[in-house]
Amino acid sequence: MNNRLVMDNISYYYDRNKVILDDISVEFEKGKMYVILGPSGCGKTTLLSLIGGLDIPKSGTICFEGCDINKEGLEKHRRNNVSFVFQNYNLIDYMTPEENVKLTAKQDAQAMLKKMGLTADECKRNILKLSGGQQQRVAIARALASNNPIILADEPTGNLDEETSQEITSILKEAAREYGRCVIIVTHSLEVAKQADVVFRLKHGKIEVAALGMDQ
Ligand SMILES: Nc1ncnc2c1ncn2[C@@H]1O[C@H](COP(=O)(O)OP(=O)(O)O)[C@@H](O)[C@H]1O
Ligand SMILES: [Mg+2]
Repeated sequence: MNNRLVMDNISYYYDRNKVILDDISVEFEKGKMYVILGPSGCGKTTLLSLIGGLDIPKSGTICFEGCDINKEGLEKHRRNNVSFVFQNYNLIDYMTPEENVKLTAKQDAQAMLKKMGLTADECKRNILKLSGGQQQRVAIARALASNNPIILADEPTGNLDEETSQEITSILKEAAREYGRCVIIVTHSLEVAKQADVVFRLKHGKIEVAALGMDQ
């Protein structure tokens, strides 16, 4: 229980009556990679923003390691518990990979970048001179080096070709399995979902465990 991220009866809506999440209860644990599948507009980014403490549910609670994140303070939650990986990498492009990772690192930035597959030369190169796949490796290195236990990835392979997507998904899985992080990916990619420990589907405001191979 204590090692978990638990969403209890979470609801979220816009404009009073546009329901996005309808009384969702779901649990995530460290050491596993989760994929949440769902079509565009179904509420995937909204769900991640609630887990990440960027927004507050209209009702329900989110607890991490037994503490209500809202009661503990969302700023503290964001600083100590969460790292984001985005579709467009969100690196600071006038800094090198090493400088980007150092901003939040609690361990050796260059060593982590090396583990993620960057060469010493690439660690010092301008961000804009790296491929999309390399930039996403930097973003994942940033997440891992921060030591924050939860990694939230919003369409992390959305801008990448098939082969690179596969590599990035494997690295995210390594983040869960070898680094013990709780990795939650939202995507519409079935290929990414195939690598997950648990797959959920978000549809009409509800979340359920998905059996892959079944119709969307
Ligand atoms: N600030 C907002 N105000 C009103 N509606 C919003 C707002 N943000 C998102 N939405 C709507 O909420 C729904 C879910 O959005 P989102 O969580 O971004 O979906 P997804 O990430 O699955 O594509 C969409 O229909 C979107 O238009
Ligand atoms: Mg989205």
